[in-house]
Amino acid sequence: MKMFKWYWDFLKKYKFKMALGLMLTLLVSLMQLINPYIEGTIIDRVLIKGEVGVLIPLLSIIIGVTVFRCIVKFGYQMMYEHISQDLIFKMREEIYCHLQNQDFNFFDTTRTGDIMARLTGDIDAVRHFTAWVIYNVFDNFLTFTFAVVMIFFVNAKMARILLAITPIIAVVAYKMTNTVRPSFFAIREQFSKLNSVVQENISGNRVVKAFAKEEYEIEKFSRQNELFKEKNLDSSRIWEKYLPVLEFFASMLSIVLIIVGGIMVIRKNLTLGELVIINGYIWALNNPLRMAGWLINDIQRFFASIDRLINLVNEEPKIKNPKHPIQKEKVRGFVEFENVSFCYRDIPVLKNISFEVHPGQTVAIVGPTGSGKSTLINLICRFYDCNSGKIRIDNVDIKDMDKKELRDNIAASMQDIFLFSDTIEGNISYGNPNASMKQVQWAAQVADAHEFIESFPEGYDTIIGERGVGLSGGQKQRIALARALLKNPSILILDDTTSSVDIETEYKIHKTLKPFCENKTTFIIAHRISSVKNADLILVLNHGKIVERGTHGELLQKRGYYYDVFKNQMGDFDVSAVGEVC
Ligand SMILES: Nc1ncnc2c1ncn2[C@@H]1O[C@H](COP(=O)(O)OP(=O)(O)OP(=O)(O)O)[C@@H](O)[C@H]1O
Ligand SMILES: [Mg+2]
Repeated sequence: MKMFKWYWDFLKKYKFKMALGLMLTLLVSLMQLINPYIEGTIIDRVLIKGEVGVLIPLLSIIIGVTVFRCIVKFGYQMMYEHISQDLIFKMREEIYCHLQNQDFNFFDTTRTGDIMARLTGDIDAVRHFTAWVIYNVFDNFLTFTFAVVMIFFVNAKMARILLAITPIIAVVAYKMTNTVRPSFFAIREQFSKLNSVVQENISGNRVVKAFAKEEYEIEKFSRQNELFKEKNLDSSRIWEKYLPVLEFFASMLSIVLIIVGGIMVIRKNLTLGELVIINGYIWALNNPLRMAGWLINDIQRFFASIDRLINLVNEEPKIKNPKHPIQKEKVRGFVEFENVSFCYRDIPVLKNISFEVHPGQTVAIVGPTGSGKSTLINLICRFYDCNSGKIRIDNVDIKDMDKKELRDNIAASMQDIFLFSDTIEGNISYGNPNASMKQVQWAAQVADAHEFIESFPEGYDTIIGERGVGLSGGQKQRIALARALLKNPSILILDDTTSSVDIETEYKIHKTLKPFCENKTTFIIAHRISSVKNADLILVLNHGKIVERGTHGELLQKRGYYYDVFKNQMGDFDVSAVGEVC
C-alpha cells in the first residue's frame, strides 16, 4: 500500500486527465459491442430474411464505428503516453535530487550499476504501467463485463453456460500471479548486478587492459549474464506452466459455444444471427482472459520496480542537517578538534584527535599510508560524522551548521581526483561558475597549470575525457588544485595534491600559494617533507592517533617518525646537522 501511495503522489496530478482517459476507454469498450451485434443482424435480416435494403446502412455503421473507435483510441493512448512521460520525468528528478542528498556512506555501500538499473529499467516499468497497463486493465474488465451483459441479453442460457467456465480461468490467473511474483523481484535484482559488472568494467577498462584480464572479465560478465538468463527462464517456466492452462480454458469458450450453440440453433432455440453475435462477443470474453496473464506479468513487474525505487527513496542520509542551523555565511577559519574519534563500520580509524588551527595558519598532516589523514579531513567537511568528540569551526560545532554553508566555506582538492568530461575551463570554474575567464586563468596560474593548458590547441576550451582522461596525473592534480583555489574558501584542503608533480613544480606551486593562503586556514596532507616543512603546525598521525606535533624544526629535534621520514627523503644529506637545517 505504501508503494502505491508513493506512486499515487506522482499520479494524482493527472487525475482529471486519467479520468478523461478512462471515460474514453469506456466509450471505446462500449463501441466494441456494436459491430458483432450488427454482423449478427446482417446474417438474420439480410442473409436469412432477404432485407437487402438494410445492408448498406448497416455496413456504413460498422465502418463509421470502426473509424471513430480508432480515432478515440489513438487520442487516449497518446494522452496516457504523455502522462506517463511526464510522470517518470518528475520521478527521475525526485530520485536524482534524493541521490544528491545522500552521503558518502550511501555511495560507499551502493553499487553504481544498481542505481543505474533503478533509474533506467525500473523507471521504465513504471512508465509502461502508466502508459499501457492501467487503461488495458480497465479496458479488458469493461470489455469482459459488457460482453457478458450482451450475451445475457441475446441468450441468457448460453451466457450462464459460458460463465460457468470463467471462474476456473480466474483461479488459474490468481495462482499464476502469486507464483510468478518473487521471480520478478529476482530478475530485477540480477539486472542490477549485471549492470554493476558492466559499469565497473567500463570505468576500470584501463586496469583491465594493464593486467590483461579481459578473459577474466568476460568470464565474470558471463556468470552474471548466465544468472540473468536463468532468472528470466525461471520466470518463463512458471509462466509457460500456467499460460497453456489459461489458453485451454479460454479456447474452451469457443468450443462450448460451437457445440452447445450449434445444438441450440438446430433445435431453433437460437437463431443463426444470434449465434454469430455471441461468437463475436466470445472474442470479448476470451481476449481479456488471455490478456489477464500479460497484465498480471506487467503488474508484477511494476510492483517489483516500484518497491526497488521506493527503497532508494526511503534511504535516509546519515549526515543530517540541523533543524535550526546556526547561520555562518562566511567563516573565519578557526578549526578545533576536541577528542575526536571515528570508526568506519565499527573499525576505529581516528582516536582522540585534538588540535586547534587559527585563521591564516597552515596545518600539515603526515603519517604512514592508512593512518587516517584523509579521514580526518573528511570529518571537517562532514562527509562522515565523528562518533565522539567535537569539531568546531569559529567555535560552532559543525553539526549545528547548515551542511551547505559549511561546505561552501571549504574547498578541497581530494586525493582521489575526479574531473568531469567538460572543458578545462568548466572544470576549474565548477565551484565558482560565475568566475570570469581572468579569474580562471589566475587560479590556473597559481596551480602552475596555465602554461600546459595554453599549450593545448584549444587551450581552456579543451574538452577532457571522463575522469580527466587525456591528462597526466600531475596535470589532473593541478586542475583540481585550480578548481579548489577558484572557490576562494576560508578553509582550503589539499590532500596529496602535489604528489604527482616534480619537486621543482611543487616548489613553484607552494611559493605562489603562500600569499593566497595568508587569510585562510590551510590543511596540507602530503608524504613529501618538502610539501609540509613550512607549515605552522605539523601533525604526525599513526594508527589514527596524533603521535607527534610541532613545527618542522621541533619535529626534527624530537628524532621520531618525522625525523626518520626526513632522513629517508634527504638521502645522503648530513642529518646530524638538523639543528642547522631548520
Ligand atoms: N570508505 C571507507 N570505508 C571503510 N574504511 C575506510 C574507508 N576509507 C578509508 N577506510 C579505512 O580507514 C583507514 C584510514 O584511511 P585514510 O584514507 O584516512 O588513510 P590515509 O592516511 O589518508 O592514507 P593515504 O596516505 O594512503 O592516503 C584505512 O585503514 C582505510 O582502509
Ligand atoms: Mg589519504
